[in-house]
Amino acid sequence: MKLGQFETEALEGKHGEGLALAARIIVNLGEFFNAPRTIRIESAHISGVSVKTGGKALERVLEKFIKGGARTRIPAFLNPAGFDMTRFREMEVEEEFFERQMAIIEKFKKLGVIPALTCTPYQNGLIPKKGDMLAWSESSAVSFANSYIGARTNREGGLSALAAAMLGRIPYYGLLVSENRKPNLRVTISKDLGGGLSPREELFMIGLIIGKKYASSIPYITGVAPTGPESYKGFGAAMAATGNISLYHIEGNTPEWEWARNCLDGFQGGNIPELRINSAHVEKMINRSIPEKMPSLMVTGCPHSSVEEMVEIDRKLKKKIQNTRLWIFTSGQTRNLCERMGLVDSLKEKGVEVFSDTCMVVSQLEKFNFDLVATNSGKALHYLPRMGNVATAFMPMSRMLVCAQEGKL
Ligand code: F3S
Repeated sequence: MKLGQFETEALEGKHGEGLALAARIIVNLGEFFNAPRTIRIESAHISGVSVKTGGKALERVLEKFIKGGARTRIPAFLNPAGFDMTRFREMEVEEEFFERQMAIIEKFKKLGVIPALTCTPYQNGLIPKKGDMLAWSESSAVSFANSYIGARTNREGGLSALAAAMLGRIPYYGLLVSENRKPNLRVTISKDLGGGLSPREELFMIGLIIGKKYASSIPYITGVAPTGPESYKGFGAAMAATGNISLYHIEGNTPEWEWARNCLDGFQGGNIPELRINSAHVEKMINRSIPEKMPSLMVTGCPHSSVEEMVEIDRKLKKKIQNTRLWIFTSGQTRNLCERMGLVDSLKEKGVEVFSDTCMVVSQLEKFNFDLVATNSGKALHYLPRMGNVATAFMPMSRMLVCAQEGKL
C-alpha cells in the first residue's frame, strides 16, 4: 500500500510510539484488503466500549496508545457503555463492572475520544455529508451513514476506527470505492403487507427478512414509500444485525438510488438474485416473535431514541402504565434536551424510565431476571437473547403502549 509522507513518518516512529502503533494497524488493515493507498477521513465512531463487548485486550491496547502519547486528530465518538453514567445505581451495576467501565472511558478520553456514548452519532452532532469518507464501526450507524446519508464507511472494528482517528486516514477499500457500492440483489416489497404494523415497524421486519435471506448483500429495494430518518435507522439496524448488511439503496429515496439503478440496468454478469417480500413473509416473521404473555419489561431505543420518538411515546401515552415496565434508551445529549423540555418528567409520571449512555444489549439487563422482555427493535430482538440471555419478543410500539396502559396483552 502506497503511503504518504506523514504516514511513513508515523510508521517510522517519528511522531511517537502511539502513532506508530496506529499506523501499523492501518497498514496491516490496508494490506489485508489490498488497498492501493489510504484516504483522509472526516470522523470516526468507535464501538466495543462496554465491558461486555470490549474485553481486557482493548484495555491493554488503550494503555499502549496512552503511553505512546497518541491523540485523535479528527472527531471520534464512542458507542454506548455498560450503564447510564448518572443512574448506574438504579441499574444495579456490579462494582467490578463499574470500575472497569469507568477506567475504559477515562482511557478513551485521554486519547481525545469524545465520550458521546451513543450509537446514533448522526442524531447527536456528528453529522456527515454525502460523499464524506469515515471510519465508523457501529453496524447500525454504518448502515445509516452509507445508505441514508450517502457518506462512505466500511464496518470497521473498534480498534481500526480508533487507529484511523489518530492517523486521520483509513485504507481506501471496500465501501469507500464506488465500484463496491453497486447493488447485487433486487428486493421488491409488495403493497399492503398487512400484519397491522405501522409503515416504520413493517420496515424493521423487512430488514430482518432481507438480512436473514441474503447476508452481506447490497440490496436495491423497490416498493418502499418515502419515509424519515427514524424508519431508516431501525431498518438498517435490523439488516445489519441479521445479515451484516452495511449499505442498501431504496428506489426514489436514498441518495445514490439513481446511480444504483443504472448499475443494475447495465449489469451484464448473469442474473442478479431477486427477493420478493409479501405479507406471508412478514406475518411469519411477526408470528415467530410475538409474546404469548405480558412482558415484564418493554424496551425501545435500539438504535438510540431521538427526541421525536420520545415525544411520540409521551403523546400516545394517555395514562400511567401498569403491570410492566417501559424503558427508553437514548444518548446523554438527547436526554438532557428532553429533560429541558419537561419530557423526561412527563414520561416518569406515566411510569416510563429514560436511560442514557447505554442500551438494553450492552448493559447488564440479565441481572434483573426479567422473564420476558419485549422490544420494537429488529436489532434488539436479534441480540438480546444472544448477548443478554433474556427471553425476548417483538411488539410494535403502538401495541406496547396499548398493553402497557391496559396492564394486559
Ligand atoms: Fe445501539 Fe445498543 Fe442497539 S448500541 S444499535 S441500542 S444494540
